[in-house]
Amino acid sequence: MLVRGATSIEDEEGTVHVVDRPVVALCRCAKSSRLPWCDGTHKVIRRDRS
Ligand code: FES
Repeated sequence: MLVRGATSIEDEEGTVHVVDRPVVALCRCAKSSRLPWCDGTHKVIRRDRS
């Protein structure tokens, strides 16, 4: 998920991550090694098609 114009992102544990870019990509698959940021891992994991 791309987010534009954010100055910070708070994750589900309440940790605030400072944003220093105009656009950031948030991980929605929960497999990123750089949570809460997307690192592209979603491209290689198998989708659940149930
Ligand atoms: S959405 Fe999770 S790594 Fe990209």
